[in-house]
Amino acid sequence: MSLGGKSLISINDYSKDEWLQVLDLAKKFEKSPNQNILTGKVVACLFFEPSTRTRLSFETAVQRLGGSVIGFSDVNSTSGKKGESLKDTVRVVSKYADLIIIRHPLEGSARLASEYASVPIINAGDGTNQHPTQTLLDLYSIQKTQGTLTGLTVALGGDLRYNRTALTLIRALVSFKTQFIFISPAQLKIPDNLRYFLQKNKTLFEETTKLDAIVNADLLYVNRIKKEYFPDLLEYERVKDKFILTASVLEGTKPNFKVLHALPRINEISEDVDSNSQAYYFEQAYNGFLVRESLISSILGIAS
Ligand code: CP
Repeated sequence: MSLGGKSLISINDYSKDEWLQVLDLAKKFEKSPNQNILTGKVVACLFFEPSTRTRLSFETAVQRLGGSVIGFSDVNSTSGKKGESLKDTVRVVSKYADLIIIRHPLEGSARLASEYASVPIINAGDGTNQHPTQTLLDLYSIQKTQGTLTGLTVALGGDLRYNRTALTLIRALVSFKTQFIFISPAQLKIPDNLRYFLQKNKTLFEETTKLDAIVNADLLYVNRIKKEYFPDLLEYERVKDKFILTASVLEGTKPNFKVLHALPRINEISEDVDSNSQAYYFEQAYNGFLVRESLISSILGIAS
């Protein structure tokens, strides 16, 4: 089984065995994160939308493996500002790079890019649709903290409607016999198409507004309320403070319980949680660069 040359646009572009292959290789990189295996390779990071972790962990991954990075994080500095299309941009960048990583605010943009690029594409987040590399690092983090991916009870809280991180992770965890507890304000419940997907896969889930439901969970994945994707800012104002995790809520949770969050955090996790041994979100961000080292070297066909 080889991921050589294979784009990652949606988490289901890869099989479950391929996800696990990426995770296994990330474990090897955790022991040895600096290796000169990408010498002569160039990776382009095209970020049409803001990012701290995803862009910098991809760039760190390439550089720690001996490759080079080109790209942009400010679309105003590119010829897109003059009206150049996304498809022309990726056609041209394909001539300069061996792999393109793209984040874009529009759903479907990474898929479109993959249809015009002559090198593999990794989707680093497209609108409210998918964030598959975040899901791989989330799976890595869950496996690392729980010792397994199978049969867990996973609570997801906050924005379950517009947050691509939550929506992508849920679709992956269905393959591991996960039971879900969805905790959100009524306006931010999971979309109907995802509810249908869960029912079709005979996945058990409950939906509640009450945070104390986490006592039955192995972990809580907190999701930022994505202001940038709200069609109505008044609606955002109404819900923005409706999900806040504080340290006192963690009392009574299971011994193996962990709190995850893709970050950035606004106010949905109180800072008094940070010093709790159950807080895992900063280690989770560290795992991101290991998983991205694994993914880049796999797609470029270079074994560790
Ligand atoms: N987790 C994540 O996607 O963070 P950034 O938006 O900072 O890349």
